[in-house]
Amino acid sequence: MLEVHHVTKNYQSFTALKEVDLQFDHGIYGLLAPNGAGKTTLMKMLVTLTFPSDGEITYNHENIVDLGEEYRDILGYLPQDFGYYKSYTAEKYLMYIAALKGLDKTKAKLRIKELLELVGLQDVGRKKLKKFSGGMIQRVGVCQALLNDPKVLILDEPTAGLDPKERARFKRLLSTLARDRIILLSTHIVSDIESIAKEIIMIKDKRVLYKKNQEELRSLLEGKLFEAIIPFEDVEAYHSKFSVLSEKQEKNGIKVRFVSEQKGAWNEVEPSLEDVFLYVYEEETDLSEDRKHD
Ligand SMILES: Nc1ncnc2c1ncn2[C@@H]1O[C@H](COP(=O)(O)OP(=O)(O)OP(=O)(O)O)[C@@H](O)[C@H]1O
Ligand SMILES: [Mg+2]
Repeated sequence: MLEVHHVTKNYQSFTALKEVDLQFDHGIYGLLAPNGAGKTTLMKMLVTLTFPSDGEITYNHENIVDLGEEYRDILGYLPQDFGYYKSYTAEKYLMYIAALKGLDKTKAKLRIKELLELVGLQDVGRKKLKKFSGGMIQRVGVCQALLNDPKVLILDEPTAGLDPKERARFKRLLSTLARDRIILLSTHIVSDIESIAKEIIMIKDKRVLYKKNQEELRSLLEGKLFEAIIPFEDVEAYHSKFSVLSEKQEKNGIKVRFVSEQKGAWNEVEPSLEDVFLYVYEEETDLSEDRKHD
């Protein structure tokens, strides 16, 4: 059991996260939030690369900083900007990481073989990483995070740069890995975690806004989501009256999908997770961009 107790993180005078409380047991948790929301900050604290300014993080009720090596032994981490050596082969790179992690050489060899098979890279283990596609590199990244068979696996935007086929494959891989461990993965792409995450955490205004399962999240918009086909000149009026989540050009007008607290003569539709995401972060563009203008 991994627990975040009332954690605040300041970078000098800037507060990145405020009073965050979270609990994780086994299964996949999706950290879904736009750019600059604090996903990497939270993950870096969970892997002890940076520390809370206030509050603490515990694993089985002990502070992870005090656990030190004991905690790092059960931890796997794929950083957002994961560095690798292009001229290394996949096997050589993984052997190198295994050595850094202090794994026994013979055991590491076996483990690497197993892992390359798990992620479907068994035939290219001897190929240089510079020949790998983005998706293949990400899978090598997952392998390095899994070398020590971690109980806690933290993946920071593991699907960045993957094509749709690779994303689908990656999702299946995560499901098989989740059985007896905690997996926390961050993304700002809803479909990456749709159907596989046990719970989704949304961060807004530096705080955890929601930690709910997908059913609960969708129910936030139950009975409030509508579609209507309207003339082009009415679109602006809809924007000022409702939260318009999407617009689509149709033959006979513009199809708007919007949230209204009151029912009207519109077509009520089933909310998707994407709708909830769009609704929650409606006014936000790129938070990290905003900051530059502070
Ligand atoms: N070392 C740092 N010093 C100062 N500010 C930082 C530092 N690291 C992050 N921040 C700021 O903290 C906020 C959260 O950043 P963080 O990288 O955690 O967001 P994120 O959700 O991972 O974003 P992205 O989706 O772009 O990866 C941002 O406003 C960022 O500019
Ligand atoms: Mg990040």
